[in-house]
Amino acid sequence: MGNVTVIGAQWGDEGKGKIVDWLASRADMVVRFQGGHNAGHTLVVGNETYKLSLLPSGIVRGTPSVIGNGVVLDPWALKAEIEKIAAQGLSITPDVLMIAETCPLILPIHRDLDALREDASGAGKIGTTRRGIGPAYEDKVGRRAIRVCDLAHLGQLDPLLDRLCAHHDHLRAGFGWPPVDRDRLKRDLEGIADFVLAFARPVWRDLDEARRRGRRILFEGAQGVLLDVDHGTYPFVTSSNTVAGTTGSGSGMGPSAAGFVLGIVKAYTTRVGSGPFPTELSDEVGQRLGERGHEFGTVTGRQRRCGWFDAVLVRQSAAVSGITGIALTKIDVLDGMETVKICTGYRIGDKTYDYLPPHAADQARAEPIYEEMPGWSGTTAGARSWADLPAQAIKYVRRIEELIRCPVALVSTSPQRDDTILVSDPFAS
Ligand code: GDP
Ligand code: IMO
Ligand code: MG
Repeated sequence: MGNVTVIGAQWGDEGKGKIVDWLASRADMVVRFQGGHNAGHTLVVGNETYKLSLLPSGIVRGTPSVIGNGVVLDPWALKAEIEKIAAQGLSITPDVLMIAETCPLILPIHRDLDALREDASGAGKIGTTRRGIGPAYEDKVGRRAIRVCDLAHLGQLDPLLDRLCAHHDHLRAGFGWPPVDRDRLKRDLEGIADFVLAFARPVWRDLDEARRRGRRILFEGAQGVLLDVDHGTYPFVTSSNTVAGTTGSGSGMGPSAAGFVLGIVKAYTTRVGSGPFPTELSDEVGQRLGERGHEFGTVTGRQRRCGWFDAVLVRQSAAVSGITGIALTKIDVLDGMETVKICTGYRIGDKTYDYLPPHAADQARAEPIYEEMPGWSGTTAGARSWADLPAQAIKYVRRIEELIRCPVALVSTSPQRDDTILVSDPFAS
């Protein structure tokens, strides 16, 4: 029995939260290893809906959950999320939540900068979640970040704040903004320190111990491969590596820890925020997908852009991320469609491509080459076994497997936890 890594194989919102929650009953620990509260993972258990941004989705099952060093952590957002979840009856104690002492913090100045840049970018804006994710990662690699462990040494915070504020004051001045209110920032950090420190641990040791004891670790990715800062549709990406290769560096484990890489793949395509989207539909079919799939962002409430399944992109994601098998989600949203289309290549100018070239200008004018298949009249919604799926829906799944060169391990047929078909157990491989 090995570990499993769940990652999004498209532009995020593929249904990772639902699948992680489902798999968490078989795992001993769940670990977030990148991203921050830009993520929005929705779990539906009976009549209760949980919306998690920073907390690993295993927390709802009570599976011990880790926020790894690769995550950027907004301590005030963490507190608010823990309070929100507590109001739903889930108590988050240090027994169940462990936070890496080396996590860089997202501060209010990061949110300011994210918003200032977006507002100044006009049509070229990324469409970020405005949570301060990019600026926080910049300060991490710029070696200016305040980290969780700094909260345990408040007496030594001054020189760190001086260096950080000096940098931000220059940037803010460029936007005509006043300097950072350093004293207030310090007071805010002093005020939140004890709350965060209650969960802080050398999680790399816990994970090493878990590995030695043969415990099963489930890594929970945020965003998706096409939003990866190296492999995604740059610059319209997030500021972390979302690929499975990040599990080790983002948690403090070795490169083999990832185990079975389960790519979560929506049966069509969505994107929230700006950037190229070759199969985007601006007609009534796109509208129908959005309505039936309830495609509104969990974090920002923005309407998600919708389009046909793009096998070229998912094949590329599977290759760059080493995806072992996929969980195909939201196939029920396609129920009742007369025909369904799959993109199998692009036409860019007078050339055809079987991959997405890296330049933003080429990506923006890529025209999809489609293959069309009949839809199905029966329903897949709520199906829990392969035999419950209409024959034509099975053909659609099989064709996707063929085109992306990856087998299907799970199929999800509704937001509900148990409406899931197990084709082959990722933990068993
Ligand atoms: P994540 O960011 O990858 O965790 O995905 P989100 O939670 O942001 O978005 C996925 C949405 O689809 C959520 O509202 C889920 O409840 C819902 N969902 C997940 N799987 C399915 C499914 O198989 N069918 C339908 N209809 N909805 C699903
Ligand atoms: P989950 O985990 C979908 C997108 C934003 C924007 C770009 C950069 O729920 O799948 P950022 O705030 O990260 O600097 O924004 O990335 N984005 C997501 N889109 N799902 C997410 O997370 C996302 N997290 C960030 O919309 O286009
Ligand atoms: Mg989401």
